[in-house]
Amino acid sequence: MAQGYASGKVILFGEHAVVYGRPAIAVPVTDVRAQATIMPGSEGEGVVIDAVDLDRQIHVRKADKNDPLAHIVRLTLDKIGPDLDPDLTISITSTIPIARGMGSGAAISTAIVRALGKELNRWFPSQEISDLVYQTEILYHGTPSGIDNTVIAFEKPVYFVRGVTRQVFWVGKPFLLAIADTGIESSTKEVVGDLRRRYEAEPERYEPLFARAGEIAAAARSAIEQGDTNPVGRLMDENHDLLRRMGVSCPELDRLVAAAREGGALGAKLSGAGWGGNMIALVTEETRGRVDMMLRLAGAAQVIITQVR
Ligand code: PMV
Repeated sequence: MAQGYASGKVILFGEHAVVYGRPAIAVPVTDVRAQATIMPGSEGEGVVIDAVDLDRQIHVRKADKNDPLAHIVRLTLDKIGPDLDPDLTISITSTIPIARGMGSGAAISTAIVRALGKELNRWFPSQEISDLVYQTEILYHGTPSGIDNTVIAFEKPVYFVRGVTRQVFWVGKPFLLAIADTGIESSTKEVVGDLRRRYEAEPERYEPLFARAGEIAAAARSAIEQGDTNPVGRLMDENHDLLRRMGVSCPELDRLVAAAREGGALGAKLSGAGWGGNMIALVTEETRGRVDMMLRLAGAAQVIITQVR
């Protein structure tokens, strides 16, 4: 029985501006994870994926070619050997919230590649996993930036400029993030499309916001590498203000951001597409309990405290 795991992710800085060529930072969230477990299958059936949480079974041979889970299995088997078609059951489970910008799709695919690699004795380096998973991200999102598969495959913070660079970097001193869910599902595609229309009507209004968000991401990376977390909180606050001015926040996100600051967080911002989904706050061992409580009182559906290292 071989098992593979992968963690979730959040965007720390630079969402939306990244679509317009500015840098962004994403970090792994190791407290939530996807798991793939491989067991012997029924003879002659090929690979069957048992998506336990979704109560769904996928027969890889018969699956639609656009099914992301069947696709990652086929891509992985092709890498391991020509015409490989073993009889296996892959059971998948995940604690990563779905449709909250936490990378659940990329994490499930990553867990599958790792489990198949173990079962069939093929070592997959992180870059190869990332490239394979990117192929399934296309099926989920159309034009993925590639940040999710990178941060999840390497399980390290990533500094990302679309089409230009993806750099894994090291954290000088570990820090804690509180991640709070508004409970509102949001469609990344919709929010990105709405901002695109407003940007095209008034580029001069949005360009400076994107430019400043990019500068913030670059400054935050330096501070994180140097282990100097104090400026990171201020930069999160400023990034949230820019995102509000981009029109991607909502009253629920603003309420959670205010509550986290009131609870003593060093900084807070929405994370990901906005109009719902998650916000993040920079906390310490001393403030984490109070911030967690304030977030719940302000209506958070779930709070995860995670260490970034
Ligand atoms: O919802 P998430 O966490 O995948 O974030 C979307 C990030 C955007 O910058 C809004 C879109 C993108 O493709 O980068």
